[in-house]
Formats: sequence, C-alpha cells, structure tokens
Amino acid sequence: MNIFITGGAGYIGSHTCVELLNEGFDIVVADNLSNSSQVSLDRVRRITGRDFPFYEIDICDEDALSRVFEEHSFDGVIHFAGLKAVGESVSRPVTYYSNNLISTLTLCRVMQRYLVHKIVYSSSATVYSPDNPLPLREESKLGCTNPYGWSKYMCEQILRDVAAADRRWSALLLRYFNPVGVHPSGLIGEDPRDIPNNLMPFITQVAVGRREKLHIFGGDYDTPDGTGIRDYIHVVDLAKGHVAAIKYLQGFTGVDAINLGTGRGFSVLEMVRTFEKTNGVNIPYEIVGRRAGDVACCYADPQKANRLLHWRAEKTLEDMCRDSWRWQYNNPHGYGRDDGGNVTLH
Ligand code: NAD
Ligand code: WQD
Repeated sequence: MNIFITGGAGYIGSHTCVELLNEGFDIVVADNLSNSSQVSLDRVRRITGRDFPFYEIDICDEDALSRVFEEHSFDGVIHFAGLKAVGESVSRPVTYYSNNLISTLTLCRVMQRYLVHKIVYSSSATVYSPDNPLPLREESKLGCTNPYGWSKYMCEQILRDVAAADRRWSALLLRYFNPVGVHPSGLIGEDPRDIPNNLMPFITQVAVGRREKLHIFGGDYDTPDGTGIRDYIHVVDLAKGHVAAIKYLQGFTGVDAINLGTGRGFSVLEMVRTFEKTNGVNIPYEIVGRRAGDVACCYADPQKANRLLHWRAEKTLEDMCRDSWRWQYNNPHGYGRDDGGNVTLH
C-alpha cells in the first residue's frame, strides 16, 4: 500500500514514516519545511534502510499538490501538515487559520479529484472543552480556548462534512494527548525552532545546557504535588497508532474520532524527577505563576483505540525520558548542525 504523508518531515510525521516503512508500506512525503528539516527524512532512510520520494511543497499550493497525485497513486493519506504553537496562534490567528484550514481544504479537493478517499487526520486533545470530567472520552464536550485548537476543531468538522456528503470517504480523526520521546535510535526527534513551548524539549534543553533552568508553570493546582498533570504518550507508540489507523481504514467508511493517549497522567514534577533519575542529570527548576490557558489535569480514556484499532500505548515514562535525552545529547543543536547523529550514549 502506498500512503501519502503531509508534514512527514516533522516530529510526529517522521516517526510515523519509520513505523510505516518498517511495516512494509510505501510512502511519499510532502512538507514545506516551515518547521522541520529534510535531514529528518535522511535519518528515516538510515533507520529503515528504505528510500521514498520527498516533495518540498506547500500543501496549500493546489497545482504542486496535484502534480504529486499525478505522479503516484495512493491508498490513503495521513495529514500531519499544520502549524501547532498555541501561543503563536493567539498572536497570529490569520496565519494559523489560513495554513491549517486551506491545507486541509486543498488536500480534500485534490484527493476528491484523484479518487483517494481515505484520510487519517492529526487532531488533538485540545479540541475538548476544559470543563469536561476526566478521563476525556471521544464523546466529551468539544470547545477550544485558542485559534490553534479551533483550527483543529474546524478541520475535524470539514472532514465530517466531506465524509457525510460522499459515502466513499473515510476519515479517522486521531486526537493526540501529549506526544513526547523520540525513536530509540536517537537519530530523529523533536527540534523546536525557537524557545520550546512544550515541557519535554524544554527539559532536554536545560539538561544539555542550552537553557539555565526550567520554569514550572504553577505549583498551586489542585493536584497531589500542585503541578499540572498530563497524559504523556511516547511518539513511537503514537506512530504505531497511525499504522493501526491506516489498516483499520481499509475496512471502514464514514468518520470517527479516536483518542491516542495512555490513560495515565503524570505531573510536571514527576516528569522532572523521572528524567533526572533515568538519565542521571540534574534539572534546575523554579516554580513560577500559572501559564494562561493551562488546565490542572488532562488525560485520555484510550479504550476506543484499544477496541477498534487493537492498539495501546506500551512505553513507560522512563522510556520517554531516556529516548528524549539520547536524541538531545547526540544532537545538541537538533538537525541544525547535522553531526551524523552519532549515538554514543548508553
Ligand atoms: P511539526 O511542526 O514537527 O510537524 C508539522 C510539519 O508540517 C512540519 O514539518 C511543517 O514544516 C509542515 N507544514 C506545516 N504547514 C505546512 C504546509 N502548509 N505545507 C506543507 N507542510 C507544512 O509538528 P508535529 O508535532 O509533528 O505535529 C504534527 C501534527 O500533529 C500537527 O498537525 C499538529 O497540529 C498535530 N498535533 C501535534 C501535537 C504535539 O504536541 N506535537 C499534539 C496534537 C496534535
Ligand atoms: C505540559 C505541562 C505546563 C512547559 C500542548 C498544547 C496541546 C497539544 C500538546 C498540540 C503543563 C507544564 C510546560 C514549561 C511547564 N499540542 N510546563 N514549563 O500545554 O499540555 O499541551 O501540547 O495539539 O494543544 O496545548 O503541553 O508540554 O506545553 O505542557 O511547567 O516550560 O508542563 O504548564 O502542565 P500542553 P506542554
């Protein structure tokens, strides 16, 4: 089976490329490299020993996208391409809505024209309203607090409407919780362009000496240690969830949303302590005020994914911390300076 992957040079996309290639799928990748490096794809080739075509194009460019569909025939699409920084989406809403909605609409139009009707979409736990009881289930109330979240919500709705209008379509809306960790080779990973917004890349940059200390946003939440709790999921587990989703799509029509999480929450302090213990490094931190928009606690009910996709997350918090550190240690500047990804850490 040949799968078209948008945003495949990015963090989750590159890991999914590895799992698909390892499972014998053929892939074609498109990415405009606005938040990634082509080096990630060279590393995917190195890990898997397999080659695949790459197109440096913007998915919003219908002519360029059509040329890819002209040159290949696809059995399905995984649509990762999008902008994802919550804070930036608040200050640049038009950029976020344009990129995330137009890319999805253009992709739908081209898929329709080339009779490709199966799509896996990268959605997010951020589409759930913050006032839901936990754990979050697929039927929990939806509602967002920032333009990024709304753009994910709107793309879900677009795909629901497309599938409702034409019964040949099938779409799985995968709602990721907090992806962290990297491939155990330490060759591919998360490489934020600026100051990291997310917890794990900030911790690894402190560990490697690029940042002085971690600011922990809020120590007064109603949680056992006062810090925020999240459902961290290893990106390799997440990538395997996409392989399961693509397989499931072959016998499915319609549209469905599925959580990809572990079902277990850990606090910021638990994450810091686990990182320190697993890797034998010290993470200086300071507890500061809460970050606007954060909730105390968020975790998934992953039973639907277990039931429908026969998938469950297997990796531990220790695995997430160990693998993230291996990547950062061997690539202290991310993909920015390709040092060949020499893995020396054990
Ligand atoms: P990422 O930024 O590493 O990957 C996204 C990729 O899409 C990048 O390589 C970027 O260059 C590319 N891209 C963006 N706009 C494009 C366009 N118009 N045309 C072509 N390429 C384009 O992010 P990621 O963490 O791998 O996230 C992948 C997807 O998963 C995104 O849609 C994101 O919203 C979603 N998601 C991510 C998280 C997370 O915490 N990482 C959580 C939930 C959902
Ligand atoms: C985790 C915890 C912070 C950084 C975000 C998006 C969400 C989804 C996943 C895309 C929280 C705390 C963090 C730091 C800290 N992305 N923290 N110091 O906010 O749960 O989710 O990424 O869809 O939409 O909102 O993840 O990693 O930013 O934060 O104390 O420097 O770590 O307060 O409790 P979040 P995160």
